[in-house]
Amino acid sequence: MAFNKMWCTVALGLLLPFSYAHTDFFTSIGHMTDLINTEKDLVVSLKDYIKAEESKLEQIKKWAEKLDRLTDTATKDPEGFLGHPVNAFKLMKRLNTEWSELESLVLKDMSDGFISNMTIQRQFFPNDEDQTGAAKALLRLQDTYNLDTDTLSRGNLPGVKHKSFLTAEDCFELGKIAYTEADYYHTELWMEQALKQLDEGEVSSADKVYILDYLSYAVYQQGDLHKAMTLTKRLLELDPEHQRANGNMKYFEYIIAKEKEANKSSTDSEDQSEKETVVKKKDYLPERRKYEMLCRGEGLKMTPQRQKRLFCRYYDGNRNPRYILGPVKQEDEWDKPRIVRFLDIISDEEIETVKELAKPRLSRATVHDPETGKLTTAHYRVSKSAWLSGYESPVVSRINTRIQDLTGLDVSTAEELQVANYGVGGQYEPHFDFGRKDEPDAFKELGTGNRIATWLFYMSDVSAGGATVFPEVGASVWPRKGTAVFWYNLFPSGEGDYSTRHAACPVLVGNKWVSNKWLHERGQEFRRPCTLSELE
Ligand code: OGA
Ligand code: FE2
Repeated sequence: MAFNKMWCTVALGLLLPFSYAHTDFFTSIGHMTDLINTEKDLVVSLKDYIKAEESKLEQIKKWAEKLDRLTDTATKDPEGFLGHPVNAFKLMKRLNTEWSELESLVLKDMSDGFISNMTIQRQFFPNDEDQTGAAKALLRLQDTYNLDTDTLSRGNLPGVKHKSFLTAEDCFELGKIAYTEADYYHTELWMEQALKQLDEGEVSSADKVYILDYLSYAVYQQGDLHKAMTLTKRLLELDPEHQRANGNMKYFEYIIAKEKEANKSSTDSEDQSEKETVVKKKDYLPERRKYEMLCRGEGLKMTPQRQKRLFCRYYDGNRNPRYILGPVKQEDEWDKPRIVRFLDIISDEEIETVKELAKPRLSRATVHDPETGKLTTAHYRVSKSAWLSGYESPVVSRINTRIQDLTGLDVSTAEELQVANYGVGGQYEPHFDFGRKDEPDAFKELGTGNRIATWLFYMSDVSAGGATVFPEVGASVWPRKGTAVFWYNLFPSGEGDYSTRHAACPVLVGNKWVSNKWLHERGQEFRRPCTLSELE
């Protein structure tokens, strides 16, 4: 682990100066739309190239046909043909100049325009890291949303507008990426899918022998020796000379024979330990499982009794003059921790402005490294974000005031408005927004204390996935464009409320825009007086 980390830093240090312009495309949709335009542009110049090549070929064809007719007549009666002085002159001219001109035409490179366009555009192309990132996102979605490989490959996802499917070769590619990550579970799934599609008769350049080679290894790695053997047998039917497969086959036979031997002398004490592990598995539900269940809309923990006490109301910001005549709609999303949602709280025009301000500045979102307190990128936070100051636009300033009016908290000590865009597979795994006592004080420089509360605007609907979930308490909050949610991260005592641990589920289809405001402790002393104990 430590080694890995060190390696990463070294590699990054080396790569950074060269990949300065690179932007981790797969993390947000904003930059990916640029790529669609790049591709469109390339298609146009490719078509221009085809047209030029076709017209060149047309000219050459015409010449060939003309000469074909001419030489036909000429060879039938050479002397009669050359008896005509014009023919004699033209033969000289053709051979002395015209054939050379034709030769130049044949040699002429028509691809200039296209190639130079490629050269320009290539510097903006995604790299291997992006391709791997996009593949990993697909595998992550498969797990989180329990998608079966076939469904994913045939593109049968909920809420999709443009259906798209994976070829056997694509599946093979995904399997290989999983393999390089030593993720044999996904290697098996995707190699199997590739094989299935080939067995169904898909025409492809993917090779069954290669697929079976990876597949049997992945199956072996997961401990299913018999299946690995069956697959290797199948490989050997296709390629009886395959060296590794022949070697593996002997090895499998040896292991299986040894196992049989051991089984003969086995006692039933193993059964006992097996039972114990089954019991353990049932009790223990790791956070990841809870998180993924909530993302799928399962595992919600709200009893009918509690639900009855969740209300909706018109809220005037505790008699704030700006809201007395026009209160806003507020719904209780959860009781403990208390999470409220404001409806129609940001207009479509404001959303557009905020998005346009943020777009040119979006960059890969960072997190505080718990060891050093410094900002870094992390696989568990995949999105792009930008910060907007109230000074740069009256819209941002108006939004800040709105948050202040409706929360009753001072926004002058808050962080700037953060805008985030999650692309497909974009997510933020379970985390706290506040700083813990055992961490280096991430907010020390700000001098405004800890993050007392979070305000989160949903600036888009999400076709599928992308919920904000609270795995500790079993709550899911679904994005609804134009709404915002608000919760306190700290108790009035200043202690962190651990039940506020939350996550942004991966986007399955579509993309997600949010913006959030982290409010800090300073300035709230009279607005939310502190208490001695967290129970008050
Ligand atoms: C965050 C966060 C939730 C979401 O940015 O800290 O928790 O749904 N976001 O985007
Ligand atoms: Fe958060």
